[in-house]
Amino acid sequence: MKTMELVFLLIFFPVTLSVKHSLKFSDTASSGVKNFPDFVVVGLVDEVPLGYCDSISKLPEFKQDWSQKLIEEDPQQLEIYTQECLSSQYKYKDHIDILKQQLNQTEGVHIFQRMSGCEWDDETGEVNGFLQFGFDGEDFIAFDLKTLTWIAPKPQAVITKHKRDRERPNNVIWNYFLTQQCPDLLKRYLDYGKSSLLRTELPSVSLLQKTPSSPVSCHATGFYPHRAMMFWRKDGEELHEDVEHGEILPNHDGSFQMSVDLNLSSVTPEDWRRYECVFHLSGVRDDIVTKLDKAVIRTNCEFPAGPVIGGVVGLLLLAVCITGVFIWRRKDNGERQTYFYSS
Ligand SMILES: *[C@@H]1O[C@H](CO)[C@@H](O)[C@H](O)[C@H]1NC(C)=O
Ligand SMILES: *[C@@H]1O[C@H](CO)[C@@H](O)[C@H](O)[C@H]1NC(C)=O
Repeated sequence: MKTMELVFLLIFFPVTLSVKHSLKFSDTASSGVKNFPDFVVVGLVDEVPLGYCDSISKLPEFKQDWSQKLIEEDPQQLEIYTQECLSSQYKYKDHIDILKQQLNQTEGVHIFQRMSGCEWDDETGEVNGFLQFGFDGEDFIAFDLKTLTWIAPKPQAVITKHKRDRERPNNVIWNYFLTQQCPDLLKRYLDYGKSSLLRTELPSVSLLQKTPSSPVSCHATGFYPHRAMMFWRKDGEELHEDVEHGEILPNHDGSFQMSVDLNLSSVTPEDWRRYECVFHLSGVRDDIVTKLDKAVIRTNCEFPAGPVIGGVVGLLLLAVCITGVFIWRRKDNGERQTYFYSS
């Protein structure tokens, strides 16, 4: 970006750029997976788990101080989540059974996922809802909020699409939920949890390298919120080639981590000083800039034992990974669990 443009931005858009908040419900049901609950539902506000429920505990558990306080002060919320958790016991078993029949895959391991929820832009007030299902790691069907009909990306889902299209009252209820109730809830949760949900925490950033020929990984850990960007720069220009971006992952303490790798195999040692890693956190003006310097790189023996995936979702994904089942995840889409309506 040219200096004048930057100055312009700083003058006309000082400090707060608009921020998208989200409330997502991520439901995962499985069959044939050993030592894994039949279903797990996680609610997330801005990617922070507010609570979860699974087929083993059968009761919702609230994970944050603010969500515990909320359900103490509003027992109706607890009631709604409890009902939804109970009904999930049957609902997901049915979903999987029907899909197994429909897709002619009655044997083996199967994973069914639902992502639902909404995003709210706190500056423009814009709201987006989303609701979609995945089966065995692939998109299965998604709800189109504009037409209140379902989109089937592949032929096997067409039967389900027609069935769901005909269930007009359910679709109207989903629409109301996703565009009205969900954003209201999200705002309420953000207000309840503002001291933790709206905080900012800067990460510690380090440069790591496994072996002298490996890419250099710029690793940031301990930041909050998850709305962050990290990239490599050469002579002040963002690099796109030879760069690999990692996902933002939750830590156990509620903060996040991410890394971005730079392949330096074709860079001469004299040119190293032209490179730097930039970490930007949403809502914070000053970036953390780390110059590429051999002296600050931590190598092999100090290298942390792989990224620590945290949180309920992390554990869930880890469990699913280990089982060797496909993971169905799409950026910017969360899943959500309705509390007054079970599909
Ligand atoms: C399901 O699989 C069986 C056996 O493999 C096959 O005979 C049948 O035609 C399949 N049905 C569908 C709908 O694909
Ligand atoms: C780094 O780039 C070189 C070529 O520029 C390539 O041969 C090598 O496989 C790359 N390494 C990684 C880890 O991507």
